[in-house]
Amino acid sequence: MLKNKNVIVTGAGGGIGLATVNKIAENGGNVWACTRTKTEQFEQDLQNIANQYGVWIKAVYFDMTNESQMKTAIKEISLEKRSIDVLVNAAGTVYNGMFTMTSISKLKEVFEVNYFEQIYIMQLVARLMMRQKKGSIVNVASVSGIETTEGKLAYGSSKAALIYASKTISKELAQYNIRVNALAPGLTDTKMNKEIPDADLQKVLDRSSMKRMANPEEIANAIVFLASDQSSFMTGQVMVVDGGRLWS
Ligand SMILES: NC(=O)c1ccc[n+]([C@@H]2O[C@H](COP(=O)([O-])OP(=O)(O)OC[C@H]3O[C@@H](n4cnc5c(N)ncnc54)[C@H](OP(=O)(O)O)[C@@H]3O)[C@@H](O)[C@H]2O)c1
Repeated sequence: MLKNKNVIVTGAGGGIGLATVNKIAENGGNVWACTRTKTEQFEQDLQNIANQYGVWIKAVYFDMTNESQMKTAIKEISLEKRSIDVLVNAAGTVYNGMFTMTSISKLKEVFEVNYFEQIYIMQLVARLMMRQKKGSIVNVASVSGIETTEGKLAYGSSKAALIYASKTISKELAQYNIRVNALAPGLTDTKMNKEIPDADLQKVLDRSSMKRMANPEEIANAIVFLASDQSSFMTGQVMVVDGGRLWS
């Protein structure tokens, strides 16, 4: 599905991000795997995936909240003079807290990673894609950006804003043959949920149809679909992959 395509993945060190790197490679794509924290394990994982599928994967390190670091990283990628076919934005941060307990600085911190810097990286990469006159951007949002839940003010509204951005940017970039879609996963088994008490997780799972969390691979499958030409007539959409949690 992504044979010889070159893909930038942010949050590549996370559960969904690493599963996405793996799926892209399995489908023949090459990856600039971007994350914040350099670890031996991460480098080893990338090496193993690249060897297994015969593609190239490069680790790229930057903190999304450091714009000059991010700009330099994307500039370096552009200097490689390869086409940048896909951008997957899987970096994200979570905060669970009631409205009265959410400081404005915490709200800004969450929006910084989940919204403002997602916009900035899209601006940097879209300018390169516009020159190529092709590209696909996949923003990993959340069902929390669609449903309203107590304690999710910061996270949910940052993801709602990202969904809005994906839709509006898709309208502006369609003329350059660039598609922009958002993905809204439900609870997924990654370190992001490790601090949520089991009882709270169970409450959410109980009201979903499939009554379990997603494996990161199940989310990665949907990301690869949106990234690839399999979804060539989809843009400005929010694809919900939540085991039947949102009810219409
Ligand atoms: N897990 C879920 O239930 C769920 C559900 C819906 C949506 N999502 C969304 O899916 C995406 C991936 O989440 P995940 O579940 O894979 O979580 P995760 O395992 O915690 O991974 C999050 C990734 O984002 C990176 N990141 C966070 N802040 C960053 C920053 N300032 N600069 C650069 N990278 C940063 C992390 O890097 P470090 O390793 O350096 O911290 C990590 O690679 C997120 O956008 C999340 O909101 C998750």
